[in-house]
Amino acid sequence: MDKTYYITTPIYYPSAKPHMGHAYSSIIADFFARFKMIDDYHVNFLTGTDEHGLKIQRSAEKAGMEPQIFCDQISQTFRDLSDTLNLSNTDFIRTTEARHKKTVQHLWNELEKNDDIYLSNYAGWYSVSDEAFYNDDEIEEVDGKKIAISSKSPVEWIEEESYFFRLSKWEKPLLDYYEANPDFIYPESRKNEVISFVKGGLKDLSVSRKSFSWGIPVPNNKNHVIYVWLDALTNYLSALNYPNTDDDLFKKFWPASIHLIGKDILRFHAVYWPAFLLAAKIDLPNRVYGHGWILSGDEKMSKSKGNILDPLEIIKEYGLDPLRYYLIKEVSFGNDGNISQERLEDCINSDLANNYGNLCQRVTTFAIKNCNGKIPFEVKFNDEDLLILNKYKNNLDNIRKQIDNQNINFYIDYIVNSLFEANKYFNDQEPWKKKANIIRLNTIVYTTLEIVRKISFLLYPIIPKSSLKALKIFDIKEKDIKLDTVSNNDYLTKGNNINKIDILFKKIEKNND
Ligand code: ME8
Ligand code: MG
Repeated sequence: MDKTYYITTPIYYPSAKPHMGHAYSSIIADFFARFKMIDDYHVNFLTGTDEHGLKIQRSAEKAGMEPQIFCDQISQTFRDLSDTLNLSNTDFIRTTEARHKKTVQHLWNELEKNDDIYLSNYAGWYSVSDEAFYNDDEIEEVDGKKIAISSKSPVEWIEEESYFFRLSKWEKPLLDYYEANPDFIYPESRKNEVISFVKGGLKDLSVSRKSFSWGIPVPNNKNHVIYVWLDALTNYLSALNYPNTDDDLFKKFWPASIHLIGKDILRFHAVYWPAFLLAAKIDLPNRVYGHGWILSGDEKMSKSKGNILDPLEIIKEYGLDPLRYYLIKEVSFGNDGNISQERLEDCINSDLANNYGNLCQRVTTFAIKNCNGKIPFEVKFNDEDLLILNKYKNNLDNIRKQIDNQNINFYIDYIVNSLFEANKYFNDQEPWKKKANIIRLNTIVYTTLEIVRKISFLLYPIIPKSSLKALKIFDIKEKDIKLDTVSNNDYLTKGNNINKIDILFKKIEKNND
């Protein structure tokens, strides 16, 4: 059986251009996708845009544009961002596509057929910015304005005829499901929030709107459009051509391995989505991971707060891989994190330029001078060499396990320590003093080159372009990067040429006055 992995990002609202928070989720998802790719999985990696609903309709009106044209434009900036971030996504879905509408209407019909949908009237608070309904106890008044406590978004009162989904019916099955599948919601702290929310009691959910038209029509009642979250969540299925369950994509990739999202939208993914799926008798995804927020100051960075950092500007100034590395390392995964230019510069200078880039340069320069520019032939490992080399082999299964638990913090620590050790090894072994013992000199060079190769393989999911640049030392191409070979200590072909490479990372001049 082929190993498969299906990872999704949220589909983002094209209400304004993308910001660092969107880049963050996408980069993290790309990290997991690439890790699985080099571990020989067939990977389906989905991202896209969520284009219906009042929020988008109002943004389009404000811009004086037809919603479809407005969405076409902004969705394109998200697609462009996927390229700029060097995402390995295999698909990009838009909820205005025909393939998606078909799936959503089918799902609606299934829910209706199973008596999980009924027509009634809705009266309650609604946040257009969150596209979410809130109970009275989730609202507070600040400066005479009603806002949602969790998101601080303004809410408005709505009353209209609406279809409802019998969410209340799924309260007990959901709680049973969480209990039987303790790995469904990650991280642990978020899981507890979800469980206590469900235990607090679930009311039926309004799943259609009548007062505006920008959405997918309810089958058999054109006066209603389907609630944007029922529409949006279904993207994870429509991208696999559901309901065509004979389709290869669906057979191969459903249930999804992981929906990677921010904690702001956990309730939709860990309560509503599994309830819809249970009601439609579709398997549930294996995991929903709600990561933390990138903060700006102490607040969540968001379009509506206007405190956004533009990923494109940062990339223009520092390059993509430094940003990818920085976000993966410095935002402790699962928690909120502040980002600063200063810390980004520190990462570039110490981790990337000094510890990685410099190691690559030093050992290749030395080998070109002292080993005829070839991977040394005569090599005899001693205990010290084997100790540092075997560490990779001994840790590989644990690394895989940690990644299956989304323990990015472990992964990056492992790499940082490995780089530190590799530099220390090369310094301590002092190959420049071993010119009288050519076998020892060769062995130190070979060992260090092997470590550079192993670390470059491990760095590939984080900084793919730079890793490939480094692997040019050995003429190793992207398709040759296989995680398995990290445990191999004589992977490099003796006698092959060693290529000089360009500087991997330029140090940032810091002005400390
Ligand atoms: O919620 N820090 O779209 P959205 C970290 N369309 N991540 C952040 C972030 C921040 N400050 N700001 C945004 C929607 N994100 C819906 C999703 S899915 C079926 C529909 C990331 O444009 C994070 O992943 O508001 C968050 O969950 C998502 O962008 C919200 O993007
Ligand atoms: Mg949002």
